[in-house]
Amino acid sequence: MADPKSRFAGGPLKTFGRRGGRPLSGRQRVLMDELLPKLSVPIEAGAALDPADLFSHADEIWLEIGFGGGEHVSGQAAAHPQVGILASEVFFEGIAKLLGQIEDDKIDNVRIWPEDAREMVDGLANDSIDRAFILFPDPWPKARHQKRRIIQPDFLEALARIMKPGGKVRFATDVRSYADEALERFLAHPAYVWTAESADDWSKAPGDHIQTRYQMKKLGDVAPVYYDFTICEGS
Ligand SMILES: C[S@@+](CC[C@H](N)C(=O)[O-])C[C@H]1O[C@@H](n2cnc3c(N)ncnc32)[C@H](O)[C@@H]1O
Repeated sequence: MADPKSRFAGGPLKTFGRRGGRPLSGRQRVLMDELLPKLSVPIEAGAALDPADLFSHADEIWLEIGFGGGEHVSGQAAAHPQVGILASEVFFEGIAKLLGQIEDDKIDNVRIWPEDAREMVDGLANDSIDRAFILFPDPWPKARHQKRRIIQPDFLEALARIMKPGGKVRFATDVRSYADEALERFLAHPAYVWTAESADDWSKAPGDHIQTRYQMKKLGDVAPVYYDFTICEGS
């Protein structure tokens, strides 16, 4: 759980809105009380966690930030049983939904960080993540709120530290101003190499993308963009 002394206690701006929504169902409350503690990522202040230690048979470790209802996490976990996935979300209903999918589908390769993803990133070892997904993050469309967007230079620096050289990062959004701002920020950081060669590479959903209910609501102002970056070998 969040360390009250961490830089996130009264520290940087929140990148998310509310954490609570509708009351959880009885089953969801049981999952939160009983399954979540067993699956939580054991981040501890002052120690760097090597996530490979959490998955005895994983070939790769992936990370998803702000998983919403969890459909992308559970879909990728089921499609790639040889991968271990660290998944972070702060919205209680979303966490409970993912726990339900994990139980229903008997998924055993997902661990959950039910707090600010930036704390988890800070608590992971250098060069420990093969793939990261930041899909349709909260867009904060109003100009005065845009400083709350998660794609900030210091976050990209923190993410680059935990990514393996040659690792992959996918960012997607359907909000034009965020698409432009995020691309500029990724490209300003030397670790992120944009691999697109033609418009199809960012305007068409990648073959391995899994749509979520949130994406299908089409709440943005443009068709989705998908930016795939490779982490520079020398970073
Ligand atoms: C707009 S939703 C999209 C959810 C999901 N990625 C999808 O495509 O369906 C963004 C989610 O990110 C979560 N979020 C925002 N900031 C976060 C943070 N710092 N750590 C973890 N989750 C965060 C929010 O709670 C919200 O559920």
